[in-house]
Amino acid sequence: MSDRKIPEKSVIAAEVLSNEKIAGGIIKMTVAAPQFAEEAQPGQFCNLYPAADRLILPRPVSICDAEKESGTLTFVYAVVGAGTEEFSKLKSGQSLRVSSPLGKGFRMPSGTGQKAVLIGGGVGTAPMLFLAKELKKRNIHCTAVTGFRREPFLSQELKAAGARVITTTDLPSPDYFLGTVVDCMEINEISGDCYFACGPRPMLAAVFDYVQKRGQDVQVSLEERMGCGYGACVGCVCDIREKDKDGREQIQRRKVCKDGPVFMGSEVIWS
Ligand SMILES: Cc1cc2nc3c(=O)[nH]c(=O)nc-3n(C[C@H](O)[C@H](O)[C@H](O)COP(=O)(O)OP(=O)(O)OC[C@H]3O[C@@H](n4cnc5c(N)ncnc54)[C@H](O)[C@@H]3O)c2cc1C
Ligand code: FES
Repeated sequence: MSDRKIPEKSVIAAEVLSNEKIAGGIIKMTVAAPQFAEEAQPGQFCNLYPAADRLILPRPVSICDAEKESGTLTFVYAVVGAGTEEFSKLKSGQSLRVSSPLGKGFRMPSGTGQKAVLIGGGVGTAPMLFLAKELKKRNIHCTAVTGFRREPFLSQELKAAGARVITTTDLPSPDYFLGTVVDCMEINEISGDCYFACGPRPMLAAVFDYVQKRGQDVQVSLEERMGCGYGACVGCVCDIREKDKDGREQIQRRKVCKDGPVFMGSEVIWS
C-alpha cells in the first residue's frame, strides 16, 4: 500500500490513453491516473464526469483493471445513455474527469491455495478481471463464470489472469454454454471456497440462492442507481440485514456507494 494519501473523492482530469469498442455497445477505456491506480482495490468504482453541462451527475463505473506499473485505470462500459455516449466519443489524448476509487470493494480471502468462483453478468464481468489478478497474486485459483446476452468480452483477459473461464450466452453457439450462469454452475458442478458476483440483481439473487443451498455465502457487488456516488445524498440507499452486538438481526438503511457496493449475499434483502 502506498503511503501517499489520496483525499477521499478527489477528482482529476485524466488523459484518455485508449477508448475502443470490444463488443457490440461495449467500450474498454484506459486512462492515466497513477495515484488512483496505486490505491485502487478490486470491487471499487470511480465516478466518471460527463463534460456536458446538462449531465450534472457523475456516472459510476467499476474499476476493471488498475496497473500500478503503468499508472493506469481501465473501465469497461456499456453505452446506454447520454453520459456513456459522451464517453464513447473520447479520443486518445483527450481528458476525462475521474474520481479517486470509491466505495468498499471485495474482501480478500485470508488463506492461500483456496478456490474462488467469480461470477459476472454482462458489464458486471468488468470488476472480475481486477479481482482475478489480485487473487492470483495470493495464489488463489479462480474459476470465472461469465454470462452475456450476446457477444462475450474479457474472456481472454481473464484467461491471461490465470482464471479458468466458462462463458454462457443467450444465443446458441458451439463455443459457449447456452443458459444462465447458475444453470451453468449447476450442470458443471462448480463450487469453491469463496464466491464473488457482479451483475444484474436477478442474477445476483439466483447466485445467492445457489451458494446458500451449499451452506455458503457470496460477496455481491450491487450496481444501484446513484446520485453523488460518495455518500453525500441518499440516492443509493437500500435495506441491509445486520446483526447487533447481541447477535439480533436488524434491518439498516445503508448507502451502496459508501457502505458498499460490495455486501454479503446474506445481508441483502432480495425480494
Ligand atoms: C457501483 C456501480 C458500478 C458500475 N459499473 C459499471 C461498469 O463497470 N460498466 C458499466 O457499463 N456500467 C456500470 N454501472 C452502471 C453505469 O453507472 C450506468 O450505466 C451509467 O451511469 C449510465 O449513464 P448514462 O448517462 O449513459 O445513461 P442514463 O441516461 O443515466 O441511463 C440510461 C439507461 O441505463 C439505466 N441505468 C443507469 N444507471 C444504471 C444502474 N446503475 N444500474 C442499472 N441501470 C442503470 C437507466 O435506467 C436507463 O435505462 C455501474 C453502476 C454502479 C452504481
Ligand atoms: S449516491 Fe449519494 S449517497 Fe450514495
